Amino acid sequence: MMYPIIRNTLFLLPPETAHQVSMKGLDMVAAIPLFNHWMSSHFQVQDPNLAKTVFGLQFPNPVGLGAGFDKNAEHLDALDMLGFGFVEIGTVTPKPQAGNVKPRLFRIPDQKALINRMGFNNDGVTLIANRLKERKSKTNSTLIIGGNIGKNKVTENQDAWKDYCTNFIGLEEVVDYFVVNVSSPNTPGLRELQEKEALRKIFSELQLLNKNNKPILLKIAPDLETSALDDIIALTSEVKIDGLVSSNTTLDRSLLNSMNTERAKIIGPGGLSGQPLLNKSNQVLDYLYKGIGDRLPIIASGGVFKPEDAQAKLNAGASLVQVWTGFIYEGPGIVKNILQALKTDSETSKYTK
Ligand SMILES: Cc1cc2nc3c(=O)[nH]c(=O)nc-3n(C[C@H](O)[C@H](O)[C@H](O)COP(=O)(O)O)c2cc1C
Repeated sequence: MMYPIIRNTLFLLPPETAHQVSMKGLDMVAAIPLFNHWMSSHFQVQDPNLAKTVFGLQFPNPVGLGAGFDKNAEHLDALDMLGFGFVEIGTVTPKPQAGNVKPRLFRIPDQKALINRMGFNNDGVTLIANRLKERKSKTNSTLIIGGNIGKNKVTENQDAWKDYCTNFIGLEEVVDYFVVNVSSPNTPGLRELQEKEALRKIFSELQLLNKNNKPILLKIAPDLETSALDDIIALTSEVKIDGLVSSNTTLDRSLLNSMNTERAKIIGPGGLSGQPLLNKSNQVLDYLYKGIGDRLPIIASGGVFKPEDAQAKLNAGASLVQVWTGFIYEGPGIVKNILQALKTDSETSKYTK
């Protein structure tokens, strides 16, 4: 109820600053047991009917937070407090990197969208793994943590597989599943790694290291041609890929209205997320599910704001959903709002398990 006021105040700040300020505030609340307890009881929806087992992991509920929100694994207690079933940290790269010059995150409020060209700013795998180890030693939280991994900007594509392996080794002990990110538009050449042979190399090398059978998923762009989607569907039968995350942000500016298309020209390059991405990401999800069926789980990402958006993705075959831009526009109550609707649906058996 209060969130529109908080959002209007936060929107007076540059987007990245607003993100830092609000997360610092939530971290402080989460660190005080009494407040944490109050917030948890307000925001979390705990119901055995919402729990589901996906790629061998037990998720308390199917609503997670997409990669790029907590790149450095610094806010997990606050995010746990808000009721997320899982959080994907990263994208993590082997060496720390600063990302692109600021400003690199832009709001398009009237279409509830964002454009970002962050460029994998992160603390690097060693520091992030140490942070996660320290948290693990202090908490009994059961929050499921995904590790979204990428390559450093300076790494040539032919050596990219080595970066994915370095990240895997660094994070293996401290994350529950991995996501190979080859679909961010803000690292030059990265999306070329979505090509079949490049993916085969990355996944074969990762699986050689994967002695404990950690689930390793692939995150794809919504801008792929159907022939490229067919290649990916075929590849999932040839090498061990444990699931897909669909999708990342889009480069397609035709999803914006004419006024925002002009604005986007001034903003410049970057990936578009939020409401305009909903239908496009749903089309990709539909196509993938038709090709893969229940053989592999799909985590659906793109334009989830309301319960019906999440429900549409679950109905289209997704096992889990993630929010990101919706969290900015709808506020922290977004998880509760979606979960309460799914809970009601589960009672009337409309919730697809
Ligand atoms: C500012 C920002 C940073 C992001 N960073 C990453 C990232 O580092 N790695 C990644 O795989 N996806 C990243 N994403 C993509 C999101 O995880 C998500 O897939 C995408 O935004 C679509 O979901 P949405 O419409 O709910 O935002 C980022 C998105 C935004 C808005």
